[in-house]
Amino acid sequence: MIAIGCDHGGYELKLEIIKYLNKKGLEYKDFGCDSLESVDYPIYARKVGQAILDGECEKGILICGTGIGISITANKMKGIRCALCSDCFSAEATRLHNDTNIVALGGRVVGPGLAVKIVDTFLNTPFSGDERHARRVSMIE
Ligand code: RB5
Repeated sequence: MIAIGCDHGGYELKLEIIKYLNKKGLEYKDFGCDSLESVDYPIYARKVGQAILDGECEKGILICGTGIGISITANKMKGIRCALCSDCFSAEATRLHNDTNIVALGGRVVGPGLAVKIVDTFLNTPFSGDERHARRVSMIE
């Protein structure tokens, strides 16, 4: 199960990513927001992060205008490793090296085509499991 959430700045991009998840037949839970009305991104970052920490969802997708505020908030939660990505190289590397459990995107930064490729890369790349990367991830925690 994938957790997805956004603020108003990420709402339109979230709809595009949900289209992709539906097309791929991937199960997801949408934690809001549900319109372009101005809301506070920390609320949605915490909902998605908590769903992962509770074991309800394995991975998460967070979107705000820049992806910055929502990723900063998610990374305050112990056990959450959230990577803000604007390119596929970073999306792949952060799974391989950091075992990140949330990808953050900027709805005002990346277009829908690139965003979907970033999400696809993030969801389909496993953690490398290399000792040095596992050691560094445990050092974060
Ligand atoms: C909202 O205007 C905007 O500040 C928010 O979406 C995000 O970019 C914050 O980091």
